[in-house]
Amino acid sequence: MEMLRRFNKCRLIGFLRKPRLGVGLLLVLMLTGIPFLVDYAQEWTLRRDPTPITNGSIVQMRARAVSFNMEVFRHNASKYYLIPNTNACDGPDVFLVSFVISKTGHFQSREAIRQSWASVKDVQGHTVLILFALGVPESTEEQERIEEESSQYKDVVQGVFRDTYHNLTLKTIMIMQWFGTYCPAARYLLKVDDDVFLNYHNLMEHLIGLSDDSEDLYLGWVHRRVRPVRNKNDLYYVSESVYSKDVYPDYCSGTSYVVSKDVVLKVYVAALTTPLITIEDVFVGLCAHKMGVSPTHTSKISGPVRFHLNQCCYKSIYASHHIKPGEFLKIWKLVNDGSRCSLLAKYTGLFMCKALALLSPVINQ
Ligand SMILES: *[C@@H]1O[C@H](CO)[C@@H](O)[C@H](O)[C@H]1NC(C)=O
Ligand SMILES: *[C@@H]1O[C@H](CO)[C@@H](O)[C@H](O)[C@H]1NC(C)=O
Ligand SMILES: *[C@@H]1O[C@H](CO)[C@@H](O)[C@H](O)[C@H]1NC(C)=O
Repeated sequence: MEMLRRFNKCRLIGFLRKPRLGVGLLLVLMLTGIPFLVDYAQEWTLRRDPTPITNGSIVQMRARAVSFNMEVFRHNASKYYLIPNTNACDGPDVFLVSFVISKTGHFQSREAIRQSWASVKDVQGHTVLILFALGVPESTEEQERIEEESSQYKDVVQGVFRDTYHNLTLKTIMIMQWFGTYCPAARYLLKVDDDVFLNYHNLMEHLIGLSDDSEDLYLGWVHRRVRPVRNKNDLYYVSESVYSKDVYPDYCSGTSYVVSKDVVLKVYVAALTTPLITIEDVFVGLCAHKMGVSPTHTSKISGPVRFHLNQCCYKSIYASHHIKPGEFLKIWKLVNDGSRCSLLAKYTGLFMCKALALLSPVINQ
């Protein structure tokens, strides 16, 4: 017995001394560390630029923008909205306004979002307001359903433009105008698509943690050095007369991004004199750039891809894309089941979801 134990011990020590195992362990650590290193590198290179703006004309434009008064639009609600929902922001001080950009026909997605992440109304005493932004549908039947939906939930804002892909930029301008007109005291605006799962608590905790005078915030998953598509048959086609340079300025993926209220005004004012590009997120990036606002990258938003569904991963991110209507409630329950993730579970969970997210452009090709 004693001999057997000693024999086992020797084997164990011998095994550990084998260089192969040490190298193997190191390799595993290094490999699993890659997605985290990539995140870190991206966040570092796309961090907020603290240097003050010195260009006189930009300084002037910024000052004019933040004093722009949108409350004058209150007098003409019917000119801009079929459903203006003018009183949605009344009540307790709203901290964050979340606008879910939704296609008119996506009744199921809106229902699933209301039942899941949008059921949160308050985080640590900070009020959040969730609204759905719609355009005009093709059929009057659909319009009637939307009006019913709106009177039931009171969370719809509907513009006067047709609800089409190429009008998405108009929809973003509309939510910015709505924010400035009807909820000008709110601190932040979140724009999110209706196929995105939000971990509201994490995002809110981050925003609450920023300093009170946090200006120039434009936070999301940043696209860098994207070239305009010049093929006329492409969905993303942009002509040289509309945008002539070779690359777009950095911009946050339109799937979900947050801007501070001063950025809402800056982008809105810049948009008034910028040729309309129908790619919504590129357009917002251009307007922000004109005003000297640069985006901040976060790896907690999945941007164009979907984070692999893993409980501990979803408990630590802000947003994941490509979620089907039927999945929202399931994920919501998974995130809010009250269980805690061990450090190891968090590491492996994050590794899984990030590695698969990094690989997904390759897999989907
Ligand atoms: C200041 O900004 C304007 C507008 O973006 C630009 O045309 C001009 O070249 C800039 N001036 C300097 C000195 O960078
Ligand atoms: C609102 O409508 C009135 C009358 O149609 C018009 O004179 C005014 O310029 C409009 N205001 C805005 C801000 O569009
Ligand atoms: C955008 O909406 C306007 C106003 O309803 C409409 O005339 C136009 O055709 C729409 N554009 C596209 C590209 O769908």
